[in-house]
Amino acid sequence: MDILVAGGHGKVALRLLRLLAEQGHTARGLIRSPQHAADLEAAGAVPVLGDLENDETLDAYVRGADAVVFAAGAGPGSGPGRKRTVDLGGAVKLADAALSTGVRRYVMVSSIGADRPESAGETMRPYLLAKAEADDYVRASGLDATIVRPGSLTDEPGTGLVRVSRELGGRGPVPRDDVAAVLAYVLGAPRTAGLTFELFGGDTPIPQAVDAL
Ligand SMILES: NC(=O)c1ccc[n+]([C@@H]2O[C@H](COP(=O)([O-])OP(=O)(O)OC[C@H]3O[C@@H](n4cnc5c(N)ncnc54)[C@H](OP(=O)(O)O)[C@@H]3O)[C@@H](O)[C@H]2O)c1
Repeated sequence: MDILVAGGHGKVALRLLRLLAEQGHTARGLIRSPQHAADLEAAGAVPVLGDLENDETLDAYVRGADAVVFAAGAGPGSGPGRKRTVDLGGAVKLADAALSTGVRRYVMVSSIGADRPESAGETMRPYLLAKAEADDYVRASGLDATIVRPGSLTDEPGTGLVRVSRELGGRGPVPRDDVAAVLAYVLGAPRTAGLTFELFGGDTPIPQAVDAL
C-alpha cells in the first residue's frame, strides 16, 4: 500500500513510517521542515514537503495513496489557536483531500478525553475540543475511518501488548512504539473502519486485542 502519514516527523509517526517501510509499503511522511527529510529517509520512508496549516489543500500529497494517517499535533508548547489550525484544521484538510482525490481509508490518532472535552482542565480543554471536533468531522465524512484514542504517550520500549476498548473514559499510559504498531495493524485491517477505540498498555497481543473489538 501507499500510505501518507501527516505529521511525518512526529514521534509516533516516525515509528509508524519505519514499521510500514519494513512491511514493504510505500511509507510517505508529510513534513514541513526540509531538515526532517533525512530522518524519514533513514527510517525507509519517503519525505513529502507540505504544511498542514499554510497549504490551502493537501490534494497533491494525498493523491495516489491507499490510506492516510493523521499523526500531527501542535504539541504541548502551543496555544489554543494552533490546536484549531493543526489538531482540528489539519485533520479536516487531510479528510477533505482524501475525499477529493478518492482515497477511502483514514486512520486518526486522536486522544483519550476527546469523548468529554468539557470536563477537562483549562489547559487540556482546547486540545480535546479540537480532537473531538476533528473526530466528528472525519466520522461524518463518509470515509472508511478508524479513530484510535491512545492514553498518555511514553517513550518506554514497546511490548506488543495492549488494552483496547470501545467503551470510552479510560486512563493510562501507552508506549509510542505500541501506538505505532497498533496503527500499522489497523491499516492492514479494513474491518476496523467505523470503529473508535481507546488504547493503553496492557497484556493482550495487538492482533488479538484489535481483532476482538
Ligand atoms: N502526548 C500525549 O500524551 C498524547 C496522548 C494522546 C494522543 N496524542 C496525539 O498523538 C499524536 C502523535 O503524538 P506525538 O507525540 O508523536 O507528536 P509529536 O512528536 O509532537 O509530532 C507532531 C508532529 O506534527 C507536526 N506538525 C505540526 N504542525 C504542522 C504543520 N503545520 N504541518 C505539518 N506538520 C505539522 C510537527 O512537525 P514540526 O516538528 O515541524 O512542528 C510534528 O512532527 C498527536 O496527534 C497527539 O496529539 C498525544
